Amino acid sequence: RSSSENRQKEGHHLAARFYHHLLINTEQGKAAYDYLIARGFSHDMLERFQLGFSPDQPQVMKGLLDKRGYNLEEMEEAGLLLRQESNWELKDRFVNRIMFPIHDVQGQVIGFGGRVLGDGEPKYLNSPETPVFKKNETLYGLHLARQHIRKRNEAVLFEGYADVIAAANAGILNAIGSLGTSLTERQAKIIRRHTERVILCFDGDNAGQQAARKAADILEQQGLTVYVALLPDQLDPDDYLKTYGADQFKTEIIDGAFPLMTFKMRFLKRGRNLQDEGEKLQYIEEVLKEVTNLPKAIERDVYLRQLAEEFSLSFDALKQEQFRIYKESE
Ligand code: UTP
Ligand code: MN
Ligand code: MN
Ligand code: MN
Ligand code: MN
Repeated sequence: RSSSENRQKEGHHLAARFYHHLLINTEQGKAAYDYLIARGFSHDMLERFQLGFSPDQPQVMKGLLDKRGYNLEEMEEAGLLLRQESNWELKDRFVNRIMFPIHDVQGQVIGFGGRVLGDGEPKYLNSPETPVFKKNETLYGLHLARQHIRKRNEAVLFEGYADVIAAANAGILNAIGSLGTSLTERQAKIIRRHTERVILCFDGDNAGQQAARKAADILEQQGLTVYVALLPDQLDPDDYLKTYGADQFKTEIIDGAFPLMTFKMRFLKRGRNLQDEGEKLQYIEEVLKEVTNLPKAIERDVYLRQLAEEFSLSFDALKQEQFRIYKESE
């Protein structure tokens, strides 16, 4: 690793410690601290995830880095500082935000997500893509979760920083986050290194469900067995935990997660009238396509039988139809 990358990581380490200190120990950080506690995060979680606060002073990080002898251009490249368009001077990227440090799997800080206090745009300001922070190969919280993921042979994947922290708060320690963007193949490969099973726990809104479908396919392609947890519309995991509590979240949402194919069937059923012959045939055809694409023969067999039973069809007829789909896709 080049020494520039080392210095970028050291700069992030310094920044994370400074922001954390301000949140935990100072009057300046008090409003942010109270906001987080009011949201239901325990003090322990603020420590576990090393949350911080960047004050409403656009030169404070710059001053600290300068005093410690960092090259400020290099820290701009690292994403901690920004060049102002008005006077071409450097200033802090993160101002008056709650800071969520993002770590690599070894636990070194490589970036930040910065949330506004309350409402405002953008809600989260994230570090840019840099030589040390590559979003498509980073999973939020993996450095803390990985031993728990291995022990349980299972990971729970969330969309948001807040969801991962709320889950850990509820004792779900094998929780990781996709950083809000759509899950990448690289991220799926990294998850596969630690476990064979993933529970997807995305937001209950339409965007969340669509994202879950895409993520599920990418995970399955890496050989992971995927379950999908369904949340009530309009709630994300953090909201659900706050409203219904940890026990109900674990028993209803996590233990009640659907095997991926069951989730897909539910998805394909939505808005269809299966009493109508035409719509029913369409539905069967689409499920059959999904089943045909399953990587494991045993699974294909199980779901084919299930489909045959549900619609009183002969297994052989479905098998023949599946053969036709195979040939078409070749
Ligand atoms: P959400 O909008 O669902 O945020 O985005 P959230 O995690 O529930 O946050 P709270 O509870 O309002 O504090 C999910 C994830 O998408 C990314 C972040 O990683 C966020 O956690 N995101 C979202 C951004 O990067 N920027 C944004 O402006 C919004
Ligand atoms: Mn501390
Ligand atoms: Mn959302
Ligand atoms: Mn959310
Ligand atoms: Mn949320």
